[in-house]
Amino acid sequence: VMEGTLIANKECGLPEAYDPGLKTEVSIQFEKMKADVESEGMTIDIGSGYRSYEYQLGVIERNIAAVGEEETMRSVAPAGKSEHQTGLAIDIINDDPETNIDESFKDTDEGIWLAANSYKYGFILRYPQGKEEITGYMYEPWHFRYVGEELAAKIFDSGLTLEEYFGIE
Ligand code: DAL
Ligand code: ZN
Repeated sequence: VMEGTLIANKECGLPEAYDPGLKTEVSIQFEKMKADVESEGMTIDIGSGYRSYEYQLGVIERNIAAVGEEETMRSVAPAGKSEHQTGLAIDIINDDPETNIDESFKDTDEGIWLAANSYKYGFILRYPQGKEEITGYMYEPWHFRYVGEELAAKIFDSGLTLEEYFGIE
């Protein structure tokens, strides 16, 4: 925990039994954001929200079967290391399955809007382009982490990742 913000990354994990479910504030803020997005004629939903330790094991297994171990390591957290287990991270999808959980999401109307505006609702783009060395994960234009509106605005303005912002090696 850094200044009240829970950090989960490849170095810093969670107990297997940590099982908070999706945090209420995250749902509330997502619903607010969704209403504003939809008022502009776009569509968003939560593709993946809270994931338990056990569930993450299944995600890893399915990914290894689909794309192999190396690619899986770049895009899926080991069990106990996933931000999804914090109940504070969501994968956001639109209504075009072709772009869902895919880098091409960045060029969709929803992906562009989210990258520019999600901080106003407390969400940061957690794994930005070109920061794989720092975050440990490839660019994920769909994965957003809730940190609250105040911190999200500061991080957005700084252009830094969560690790860089808090000076985590
Ligand atoms: N895709 C992110 C890194 C996760 O599995 O938590
Ligand atoms: Zn994710």
